[in-house]
Amino acid sequence: MTHKPLLATVLGQRQERPPLWIMRQAGRYLPEYREVRTRATNFLELCYTPDLATEVSLQPLRRFDLDAAILFSDILVIPDALGQSVRFEAGEGPVLDPVDAGSIAGLGKEMDPLDHLAPVLETVRRLRAAIAPDKTLIGFCGSPWTVATYMIGGKGSPDQAAARLFALRHPEAFAALLDVLVKTSIDYLVAQLEAGADVVQLFESWALNLDDAAFSSHVIEPNRRIVAGVRARVPNAPIIGFPRGAAGNLARYAQETGVNALGLDYATPLDSARTFSPGLPVQGNLDPLRLVAGGAQMDERIDAIIAAFADRPHIFNLGHGIVPETPIAHVERLVARVKNR
Ligand code: CP3
Repeated sequence: MTHKPLLATVLGQRQERPPLWIMRQAGRYLPEYREVRTRATNFLELCYTPDLATEVSLQPLRRFDLDAAILFSDILVIPDALGQSVRFEAGEGPVLDPVDAGSIAGLGKEMDPLDHLAPVLETVRRLRAAIAPDKTLIGFCGSPWTVATYMIGGKGSPDQAAARLFALRHPEAFAALLDVLVKTSIDYLVAQLEAGADVVQLFESWALNLDDAAFSSHVIEPNRRIVAGVRARVPNAPIIGFPRGAAGNLARYAQETGVNALGLDYATPLDSARTFSPGLPVQGNLDPLRLVAGGAQMDERIDAIIAAFADRPHIFNLGHGIVPETPIAHVERLVARVKNR
């Protein structure tokens, strides 16, 4: 099999230069994405149309020398597949009809969520066939807590208060919600791996604002169950965990979930990597706003990140998603610098 530098890094082999992809690399900062986006009546239709989703996944690889393609989809296709109403409204982000203690038991009962997600799996198969053999194909899902914050709150929120309170007031319904998300996520990730994904990433974008007990039950335990559940069906499946904002709980996340590689947000101090398991592959962690501003500050920080992780397997990435204001010339400069060209 052709050497895939990014996959090899997830599996623990340090590379001479870090392989690279860019979180949310297909998106609105690219004019060709905005053009394809106008061809779908709404964002979820884009995710469920393999022709269009395949095209936008490939766009960033045509422009930049990246080491991976990431499936184009969204973390909120799972609530949609479970029968909850999900809409993306311009300028507002996602809007869901919130679940409550009474409606959770009915999730996923109307139809098999994997039938609903079949077009996304078709996109994975097409991407597998389309990308060069040295490129890694990344699949993903949202982690249960992060997805639950949207399902309970009905939208994004700065402090996830609705979901945190729901977990305290309705512990049984909340546990049932995490259970259905764990089960659906395992089925979905196994299906992505079987369709040709090389690696899957768990996006725990809201791993912040939790005390250590809540972090254990809401974040560590569900992520651990997904890793174990996926590996029970796809032995040694390569998995990246990205617990954004985990801060003081980060080392524990790395040790207790069993992920192969740890995604670091940009607030993670570079020298804190010493406290993670020695040799654990890491991914990250440039502040996306450094990429917006560009110039010497960006170059210096790129060099500092590469130097800090020089002694362990490292995948270069941003510490959160690229933002729409990002100039394309800055992305070109980033890629050239990471690749040492
Ligand atoms: O290249 C890629 O990574 C594309 C695939 C992808 C998208 N969303 C496409 C998208 C991935 C991996 C995601 C993950 C995702 N979605 C996360 C986790 C990563 C993170 O940023 O923390 C989260 C929290 C979501 C939920 C979500 N989707 C929000 C909050 C929003 C609105 C805010 C925004 O960025 O617009 C979305 C919409 C969304 N998902 C867009 C894209 C390209 C923009 C919608 C559009 O083009 O109209």
